[in-house]
Amino acid sequence: MNTSKQINIMILLVFAAVIAAGAYTIWDPHRASEARTRQLELTLDRGAYLFAQNCRACHGDAGEGGAKGNRLVLAPPLNRLDLQGRKTAGGPVDLAAQNAAYKLVFNTITCGRVGKAMPTWGDTQGGPLNAEQITDLTIFITNGTAWGTAEKYANELSNTSHLTLTKALDSTSTVVAISNVTPLAKDTYIKIDNELMDVTAVDKSAGTVTVQRPSGNTKAAAHKAGAEVLVEPPILDPAKASITQPACGQLLPPAVPTTTGPAGTPTAVPTPAANAQQITIVGENILFDKTAITANASAPITITFDNKDAGVPHNIQFFNGNSNTAPSIGMTEIATGPVTQTLNLGTLKPGSYYYQCDVHPTTMYGTLTVQ
Ligand code: HEC
Repeated sequence: MNTSKQINIMILLVFAAVIAAGAYTIWDPHRASEARTRQLELTLDRGAYLFAQNCRACHGDAGEGGAKGNRLVLAPPLNRLDLQGRKTAGGPVDLAAQNAAYKLVFNTITCGRVGKAMPTWGDTQGGPLNAEQITDLTIFITNGTAWGTAEKYANELSNTSHLTLTKALDSTSTVVAISNVTPLAKDTYIKIDNELMDVTAVDKSAGTVTVQRPSGNTKAAAHKAGAEVLVEPPILDPAKASITQPACGQLLPPAVPTTTGPAGTPTAVPTPAANAQQITIVGENILFDKTAITANASAPITITFDNKDAGVPHNIQFFNGNSNTAPSIGMTEIATGPVTQTLNLGTLKPGSYYYQCDVHPTTMYGTLTVQ
């Protein structure tokens, strides 16, 4: 082989390498996006299963809410568009709204709602789920496309005993013949072709149960022998369903709010300077409504903090820098909502001022930019 031939081969090889690299770059983003889609599918599937295991007993098999789903009537629907950051079904996602919904859902699952029937799930708060499981659930709820999967898992979980009707059932009879009555007891619920029935007695020797029907919002209908009999979670009594675990610093609503004086006396607030820039920040659902605010260096700044969370303590603190490790420049006292507080920050130099709620620093924070 002479030198010019060798050079030609080398040029060809380099050329081939360049083409291969080019082809790979074109193909690779495609591969990456496919991997992302697959990851999302797996997350939604895990979220749907966790929902069927833990949440359907109150919120309904497909997140339709307790009232519609024959479950705890106080449990709201979770298959809502606002929790997906959408205004219309299939419509565009408003990223800011979706972000806010994500935080609301994640925090509600982690902390529960003290004084309401929503339990605390976060293991950091003594609940049974870890942050990864709560993330899967949050993505599942805010994505909103996998409710059918949750319903499928709900039916699977209700069908682990594989029960069937052994005799046809007309629409009025209250004695139901079932292939195996061992898994059933008084006050359990069965579902046949979507009709819910409340078991009032079990007759082991006859292989039958006595039921009250129809139950929930369902209608009594005739069912054929061989139909599937699902064992459903019990319907909870709203009067007894209220948690008292003070997770995430939530407090039970006190008889008298801590920041007001004797009944009817409004809390005294310092009078802001006449030319002050007034900025209102609302705290609701363990979130601030504003996470980025701007003000001018030319005039004093007054913050009005409106804690709308009934029974939940918040405050607001500002720092002289980009994080809560910087020196504090002012804070309000921690107070249980609903309560409105005023904080005079005075005139600030241009720069960034981090702010947070000291009770919920991981979810309630933001930055004030002074220009
Ligand atoms: C024992 C009944 C019960 C169970 C089980 C339950 N919830 Fe709830 N959930 C409630 C009630 C009641 C509320 C309404 C609380 C309120 O009024 O503030 C609620 C509220 C919520 C909210 C807030 C909705 C909103 O619009 O503010 C979310 C999100 C939520 N639940 C998710 C879940 C998830 C996820 C699970 C399972 C891990 C679950 N819940 C299990 C009863 C329950």
